[in-house]
Amino acid sequence: MTQPQGKEITPVGSRVSQISFLINGVSHSISVEDFGPSVSLAKYIREVALLTGTKVSCNEGGCGACIVTVQKSTNDKPRSLNSCLTPVLLCEGWSITTIEGLGDKTNGYHPIQSKLAAEGGSQCGYCSPGMVMQMHSWIQEHPNSTHLELDNILDGNICRCTGYRPILEAFKSFAGNVTDIEELKICKSTGKACPRTGSCGKTSLSLSEGSKLNESFEWYRPTKLSELLDVLKKLTSDTKYRIISGNTGSGVYKNDGPFTIFIDVNKVSELHESSLGVEVVLGANIKITDAINLLTTADNEVCQGIAKHFNKIAGNGIRNQGSLAGNLMMKNSHMDFPSDVFLALETAGAMVEIVSSDGQLTVLTVEEFFALDMVQKVMVRIKIPLGAKSAPKKSLNKLWAHAGPINSKASQEWKFRSYKIMPRSSNAHAYVNAGFLALIDTGDNFRIIAKPRIIFGGINPGFVHAKATEEFLIGRNMNNHDMFMEALSILGEELTPDDEPVLATSLYRKQLAMGLFYKFYLYVLGNTASSAVQSGASDLDRGLSESVQSWETDESQWPVSQPVEKTEAKVQCSGEAQYVNDIPSSTGEVHAAFVLSQRGNCDIDSVKTDAALAMPGVIAYVDANDIPGVNDWKPLPIPEPVFSSGRIEYAGQAIGLIVAESRELAIEAAKRVEITYANLGEVVTDMEKAMEQTENVTALGAPVAYGDVSGAMASADSVISGRFKTGSQYHFYMETHVSIVTPTEDGFDVEVPTQDINNTSIAVANVMNTSVNSINVSVKRLGGGFGGKVFLQNSCATAAAVAAHKLNRPVRIWLSLEDNMKMLGKRNPYLFEYKIGFDKNRKIVAVQSDFYCDGGWNFNGCDSPYAIFFGQNCYHIPNLSFSAFGVKTHTQAHTAMRGPGMCNAHAMLENMMEQAAAELDINPLELRLNNLMEQGSPVIPPPNILDVPCPIKEIVDQIKASSAYDQRIEAASAFNEANKWKKRGISLVPMRYWHDMEGWGVKFHCLISIFADDGTISVTHGGIEMGQGLNTKVHQVVAKELGVDMSLIKIKSTMNVTNPNGITTGGSVGSEMNCAAAINACAILNSNLAPVKEKLGSGATWKDIVAEANRSNIDLCARVMYAPDTDPEVRGYSVWGCTVTEVEVDILTGEMFIVRSDIIEDAGLSTSPQVDIGQVEGAFVMGLGLWTSEQIKFDPVTGELLTKNSWEYKPPAAKDIPQDFRVTLWKNSRNPLGILSSKATGEPALLMAVSVFFAIKDAISHSRREAGLNGWWKLDAPATVEMIHQHSGVNPEQFVF
Ligand SMILES: Cc1cc2nc3c(=O)[nH]c(=O)nc-3n(C[C@H](O)[C@H](O)[C@H](O)COP(=O)(O)OP(=O)(O)OC[C@H]3O[C@@H](n4cnc5c(N)ncnc54)[C@H](O)[C@@H]3O)c2cc1C
Ligand code: FES
Ligand code: FES
Repeated sequence: MTQPQGKEITPVGSRVSQISFLINGVSHSISVEDFGPSVSLAKYIREVALLTGTKVSCNEGGCGACIVTVQKSTNDKPRSLNSCLTPVLLCEGWSITTIEGLGDKTNGYHPIQSKLAAEGGSQCGYCSPGMVMQMHSWIQEHPNSTHLELDNILDGNICRCTGYRPILEAFKSFAGNVTDIEELKICKSTGKACPRTGSCGKTSLSLSEGSKLNESFEWYRPTKLSELLDVLKKLTSDTKYRIISGNTGSGVYKNDGPFTIFIDVNKVSELHESSLGVEVVLGANIKITDAINLLTTADNEVCQGIAKHFNKIAGNGIRNQGSLAGNLMMKNSHMDFPSDVFLALETAGAMVEIVSSDGQLTVLTVEEFFALDMVQKVMVRIKIPLGAKSAPKKSLNKLWAHAGPINSKASQEWKFRSYKIMPRSSNAHAYVNAGFLALIDTGDNFRIIAKPRIIFGGINPGFVHAKATEEFLIGRNMNNHDMFMEALSILGEELTPDDEPVLATSLYRKQLAMGLFYKFYLYVLGNTASSAVQSGASDLDRGLSESVQSWETDESQWPVSQPVEKTEAKVQCSGEAQYVNDIPSSTGEVHAAFVLSQRGNCDIDSVKTDAALAMPGVIAYVDANDIPGVNDWKPLPIPEPVFSSGRIEYAGQAIGLIVAESRELAIEAAKRVEITYANLGEVVTDMEKAMEQTENVTALGAPVAYGDVSGAMASADSVISGRFKTGSQYHFYMETHVSIVTPTEDGFDVEVPTQDINNTSIAVANVMNTSVNSINVSVKRLGGGFGGKVFLQNSCATAAAVAAHKLNRPVRIWLSLEDNMKMLGKRNPYLFEYKIGFDKNRKIVAVQSDFYCDGGWNFNGCDSPYAIFFGQNCYHIPNLSFSAFGVKTHTQAHTAMRGPGMCNAHAMLENMMEQAAAELDINPLELRLNNLMEQGSPVIPPPNILDVPCPIKEIVDQIKASSAYDQRIEAASAFNEANKWKKRGISLVPMRYWHDMEGWGVKFHCLISIFADDGTISVTHGGIEMGQGLNTKVHQVVAKELGVDMSLIKIKSTMNVTNPNGITTGGSVGSEMNCAAAINACAILNSNLAPVKEKLGSGATWKDIVAEANRSNIDLCARVMYAPDTDPEVRGYSVWGCTVTEVEVDILTGEMFIVRSDIIEDAGLSTSPQVDIGQVEGAFVMGLGLWTSEQIKFDPVTGELLTKNSWEYKPPAAKDIPQDFRVTLWKNSRNPLGILSSKATGEPALLMAVSVFFAIKDAISHSRREAGLNGWWKLDAPATVEMIHQHSGVNPEQFVF
């Protein structure tokens, strides 16, 4: 141990009491005392600066909704940062730009905002400010970005609506020099970009008294290492302190702490000094982005490799803010953390320098550091030896620990490779990560000169080096296959992955690690390995995203069928659009957080609230005893309690509410409520296991059947039977559930993002034992719904109402992502048991299937009775029988999610076709085309028949031609022939989506008011705008019907007072039905105005006409209720479509990317083509999440949801979408049965995403055949990276050179 060189330790008072920074040019100066360390920048921006354009969704760094641009000092480049993880106390000296700083309706929009809006890149809009700010930040530092660079910048931003394609297109349009788009005005007084906030003075703000968390803490900001050590020295050994660098670690480990001392090390210069010379010196706290930038400048395999690996960490915003030391320290405190920084640096043989508070310097390998007690110590710097040929020998000998002799011959090369295998393309932790470094003499049979470095993460918490394998390899020749097999078996022996239910299986992780070892060999052997296996060496190469969209428009109908920008797009992209949680706090408002059960299938024994209630600022505990009415928030057959009355059905069930002065306090206090449980029963979360007990399975209605199924099966030439399982899916609406309930003179005002104001009003009225007209609900928009806000929002609305009633104060509940995921239901998982019979001509003679639907703890949300209608798809099935069942498990009651049951049933039949094709040895497409339905074919429900021609053959022919299907099948086959370890698969999947509005009680209202003074028009309808473009379509229709410009019309909130008794907006019915209601309302107005128009003649303007009408006391307000059941013109219809998808799979890892998807969907004459293309793309991408990366896992003992946050649950990211994405709204198609010749688009494309699943299966089949595994094999959904690998038939015998 030595003293840190040249560092003098002098006591300095680095404790701070005041923090100053700029937001959009406005100076903010805050007292540290007022703002505890738990107040994030996002909270400050939203609740103190009242700039609610910045959104918060996950609050854990996983979604990018909260991104702002930050310039930390004049020398720094502005960069993106996730404001949800940044304590506001960290912002000293920063200049922060929020979405409001870019543009708005008053000052004009920024080109990025306008472009995103114009390209259809904003649907619900909740992600849009974060997207804009990510782009804005990026171009500050990289004004000359290429298309490919811009294609990569959204690696930390989630959009659940659009499918990313239009966002990427919008941003890529700024490739090249973008200086001219920075048209921000220069402020005369500051000489800097005008913040456009309208006020550029100084401001001194404090958190409202009630919002304080009553934290007792000290905040230090040393500027020198000596000051930092001084602070540490003052601490006693049991002081709970935290060094704060980026604070992003709190996004992964939320429960570290509590801490009383915080030390911001961002201004400590020694921790940020980096250089590149004979070795790489990285200041311990440099940001990951800075480390990448520095390392990429080195012409060195190791540095380039580390930089590439670091680029796979998190997303842009986190890499900009997270530091190397922070990451390594997370590994130090949490051994199981699959740190990529640790992995890459330990592979490179990096050394870390640690200084203790007494100034002692310790130099350690990264692995040694892993086990070091870091109390009162600081990591100062990291040194990476340069192993390149150019590096002087001396430094290598000294610095490359354990490297042994260095390269003395020209043929000696350092070979570095690292891998990170993760469940989706970006922002995900590794299943397994691995790093390899070896000095190889390529001229001597690839002899490994000295001990190589072989590191694996994700195996078990203590595992770092494959030590025995490293020892064994010294001096061996890598091109000796026998030796490789011996090494592999030694490696296999030492890899003992642990079993953790939330992780991938230990078997997969072990096999994956062994496959990566082989990959490294292939990389080193290069073209000396046989050409077929060389494909194993490289990573998948997805390339630049591209796309084509095509549709038809009819100019005579404009603005109907015109591709107009979404009505609210600009205000969404500028952050001006208001969502429920953006509503400012009202006087006396308090916050509430749920107390949730931690296990299922038991009773509550006791609830102890003392500790929680003792916290200053905590106001009350609310539970079932406080409910004045019925304890049931779901107006469905089985009551679902607002708060448990003693029985706990599932882990995550609400037991009570803690009400406090701030949300953070309420959440913290809720954790302190102690629950004990009694009568613990076995918890079963797996539906197959639940089905072993017959009492868990219930038939839901009579079978839907026609023909003689058993007779047809008995006489069939061949009968194929099988089982197929599909998984659950979380909606991942970016706006988590929230509700604000305010007691008023006539009842309660309820602000809630609901897809159904009617059922929410009724639920709240029942719980409050009051009348429905005492509940006032109005909805402007939802930040995504997807079925998850049909019922689930009632849980918050009713609970908040109970608390508001008890306290007589406004109460706000805003669910954290974790509570949202743990507490509320998701898509129903399914299991199908099926049989399909064929005659000798390969014609289907009968289909029989049992649809088992996991409903969770009750059957309220089981959608198997609806799924049945989609299980036939587009096939002629002469005899059919489908039976719907519900299965009970100890999980949340599941609920509808986009394409509920429909996507599962459609996939089931397509799976049958795939199986039948395999077993009958016939091409799947041929089998499909041989069995298409025709006009007159029976369709469910009997006795219906298809009363229009089936256009699938025509669509298939078209898509085969436009996608070059035959040529690509040939090309894929040649590719597969040539490449053993990469396989391509192609699928073609047709679709018929039965869309029926009759008999479901569908009912919507529309009220249109014309203002005579200026001729402007306000519209309110019964539908809910949640991103699907419903308002835009109504807007277009009203303009067309009244013959006015769209600029005269505004669409207003939906209110229960103007829209009583309406139905849910969902199931793709909302847009059409509200347009129908609007057409009828316009007809009334047109009829009212007709005499005036006639009187004034054709030269009269709209303004003249309405002014005259008003003078004549003509009613300029019209309201209609529209119910398709009463409209003989409207009948159900089929939406037809077809998709061709090609994927490429890395067989050694299970990773895949979608090479291309071509979709043709029949949208009739689309009312709004840009909106409908967005619906198709968004639904498809949501579907591909269902079939690939989205997996729900529960704790096998308690039933708690394990995949409960953005760290563990992975919806598709921007690079998971098809690299080449082509969508066509089928041309020359007019729907005689729909509204204005259109068809529904919200859900059908979700069904077609199963083409990704079948393409993956096709690719895997190629690999299996090479492994000698022929014939049909079963794959359940989702086809995760793990599942792909596990079914590919890989075994070490195939690891040839
Ligand atoms: C959404 C998300 C995704 C992520 N994905 C990945 C991933 O894929 N792979 C991966 O490896 N990581 C991942 N991370 C982790 C991320 O890299 C770390 O959060 C980040 O590097 C931590 O740096 P920080 O500066 O924010 O540390 P902080 O959060 O500020 O600090 C973390 C810890 O380090 C300590 N510390 C900081 N500096 C020092 C120092 N100089 N000396 C002693 N102690 C110190 C702190 O006291 C604290 O205990 C992810 C994180 C998030 C939020
Ligand atoms: S809210 Fe900050 S990343 Fe999700
Ligand atoms: S528009 Fe992106 S989440 Fe809704």
